[in-house]
Amino acid sequence: MSEFTSKKVMVFGGSRGIGAAIVSGFADAGAAVLFTYAGSKPAADALAASTGAVAVQSDAADRASIIAAIRAAGPLDVLVYNAGVLVGGDPLTIDPDAVDRLIDVNIRGPYHAAVEAARTMPDGGRILVIGSVNGDRTPFPGLAAYSMSKSALQGMARGLARDFGSRGITVNIVQPGPTDTDMNPAEGPDAELMHSVMAIKRHGTAEGVAKLVLYLAGPHAGGITGAMHSIDGGFGA
Ligand SMILES: NC(=O)c1ccc[n+]([C@@H]2O[C@H](COP(=O)([O-])OP(=O)(O)OC[C@H]3O[C@@H](n4cnc5c(N)ncnc54)[C@H](OP(=O)(O)O)[C@@H]3O)[C@@H](O)[C@H]2O)c1
Repeated sequence: MSEFTSKKVMVFGGSRGIGAAIVSGFADAGAAVLFTYAGSKPAADALAASTGAVAVQSDAADRASIIAAIRAAGPLDVLVYNAGVLVGGDPLTIDPDAVDRLIDVNIRGPYHAAVEAARTMPDGGRILVIGSVNGDRTPFPGLAAYSMSKSALQGMARGLARDFGSRGITVNIVQPGPTDTDMNPAEGPDAELMHSVMAIKRHGTAEGVAKLVLYLAGPHAGGITGAMHSIDGGFGA
């Protein structure tokens, strides 16, 4: 028996990067895993084939699509909302439609996913959302909309932890710092700048973030709720 045997886990935004590591981590730990993707069908198909997880195409910017995917999955023991987009740049010239889509994926999506999952989640369930250390700290220009979206998750987690605590359902935010993925490659042009504000001057790994998610979803974390958990190399220190 593995730690998550007989548990049903759904990961929103699981085709690549941190989400894919979370899918693999839960699958390795014995869970029945479903994950959503939007555009990366080849990556999603490959991950499903290698892990046994079920891939579901669903746009996390679309509330109806999120709700339909959760209803189709049935009661979830663990919901992980990882989908996120980064739109950076001068707020005076940035495309407002891109900002609105960021708000849809990064704020509206996790709220509606968490509430819908909680309707049928058994007592003791787990809701986890991948935020960012930028929810606490924004040391560079051009990140206002992204940081706003990740700070919003903090209020959501505190509130939903109170709403669902009587059922033993925990609600937590995992806040990575720079993590080596397509969104933020360890060899990317801004890597050195990011490392300059970190205590440990290197990108983290998606697998490291996934390990923290699995801990918070596991049996020893039942008393951890309404909290933010940074894994950021001291970016926020
Ligand atoms: N990498 C970092 O340094 C870092 C730091 C702090 C926080 N984070 C957060 O960690 C999370 C994952 O980031 P990452 O670095 O792994 O990003 P990534 O490499 O860009 O991967 C993003 C994942 O989210 C999915 N996604 C995006 N928009 C979606 C949508 N509308 N519907 C469904 N799925 C969608 C993508 O699926 P498709 O490709 O199929 O669209 C993909 O699987 C995000 O919330 C991000 O803000 C990342």
